[in-house]
Amino acid sequence: MGAGMSRPQTFYIETFGCQMNAHDSEKVAGQLVARGYRPAASSDEADLVFLNTCAIRDKAEQKVYSRLGQFKADAQAGKKVVAVLGCMAQLEGEKIFRQVPFVSLVCGSASYRKLPELLVQIEAGQRQVTGLAYDDEPFETEFTRRSNPFRAYITIIEGCDKACAYCVVPFTRGPERSRASDSILAEARQLVEEGTTEIQLLGQNVNSYRDPSRRRLSFAELLAAVGGIPGIRRVRFTTSHPRDFTGEIVQAIDSHPTLCDHVHLPVQSGSTRVLRRMAREYTREDYLEKIALIRSARRAISITTDIIVGFPGETEANFEETLSLLDDVQYDGAFSFKYSPRPNTSALALDGQVPEEEQGRRLVVLQARQREIQLARNQSLVGREFNVVVESRHSKQPQWVGRTTTNRVVNFASSGEERGSTVPVRVTAAGPNSLVGERVQTV
Ligand code: SAH
Ligand code: SF4
Ligand code: F3S
Repeated sequence: MGAGMSRPQTFYIETFGCQMNAHDSEKVAGQLVARGYRPAASSDEADLVFLNTCAIRDKAEQKVYSRLGQFKADAQAGKKVVAVLGCMAQLEGEKIFRQVPFVSLVCGSASYRKLPELLVQIEAGQRQVTGLAYDDEPFETEFTRRSNPFRAYITIIEGCDKACAYCVVPFTRGPERSRASDSILAEARQLVEEGTTEIQLLGQNVNSYRDPSRRRLSFAELLAAVGGIPGIRRVRFTTSHPRDFTGEIVQAIDSHPTLCDHVHLPVQSGSTRVLRRMAREYTREDYLEKIALIRSARRAISITTDIIVGFPGETEANFEETLSLLDDVQYDGAFSFKYSPRPNTSALALDGQVPEEEQGRRLVVLQARQREIQLARNQSLVGREFNVVVESRHSKQPQWVGRTTTNRVVNFASSGEERGSTVPVRVTAAGPNSLVGERVQTV
């Protein structure tokens, strides 16, 4: 940014990581627009480039560093200001300036409300500034600039008070802070009035939610209240922690058709021994009891999960327990990862590192097994009809993409649809990761 460049400037945000980050980027964009910055169509055209980063695995960090490298020339020539936001910023702090000297601003995910002040300092010509303290009020939403007019995120709880041995999130997102139920409901009502079809309630552990207001709604009561807002069509929530998952949540889903038929319940491992070493606070049997609760619902609720392979000390037999858990639970989807050692985490002190090669082998075996399960589950749906919310259109053919309440992606042929609308689709074919269908003509 040359000295002669004056405000307002253009900005572009690149987002890495989870949905919490995607939503944070919307909040940051809102604040920037409120300060007179204009959104640019790409990073090439922006004076200010923000990378909203993820630190969950080493690979996630490497991706950010290599992306940062691509801005080096422009930043050094004074053509661009480069800022690092998010979990890596929170975790690494000023270390980022040492690693990448042309970065001007490092602002952690916990202090976005300071961003306008930080930008004033940058505008005044300061070369490098940081904001890293945890904010007590992380939920400010008055300026949120949502990128999808039909699906809206609402953060209901920030941070994490658990201490899973492998996980860096408690260090990047800080302690658990829940948002008052009235404020959540007011935002949800407002969004529905503005035309939002689907609301996704977000938190590292949504079901650890504790209403700080006098109403003291439980998470299940909050779900029911959001699901009962007149005009709302779909409500999703993620992520649920197995230990805090209750039958009350299943009952809420059963009695509110707007609550989607999907629970994401990360198991991490099928071995009680490994779960104990991970400090997950449940056994394989406890977890299977939660699954039984979900399976006892009147509606067919789909279940997805996260799995880590090659955690320190995981034996071949332990790994096979995870494979047998896949068979027992019959997940509709699973994200699986090789264990990645992270700074500050207690797993660094554990012995029994599993070699990278062996981690890779286990991952391939696990993914192949899960793929078969998903394929069989999806193929059992061929011939059935589902309501699908239309998300987008394929670039060329008269093909559209939508999603079922169970969160399955459906590609279907149709001459014309409206994004955000709900249409009936009959499934004609199925792959492991999506369904193919045709629009059912209604009269
Ligand atoms: N709060 C959520 C998870 C957030 S992180 C929960 O408790 O389930 C998303 C996923 O990343 C985790 O479920 C885990 O499977 C994976 N993950 C977290 N730390 C990891 C690490 N150090 N190495 C590999 N995968 C990890
Ligand atoms: Fe990480 Fe565990 Fe907290 Fe999830 S519950 S964010 S895995 S520490
Ligand atoms: Fe990554 Fe932070 Fe989300 S570490 S997964 S962006 S909470």
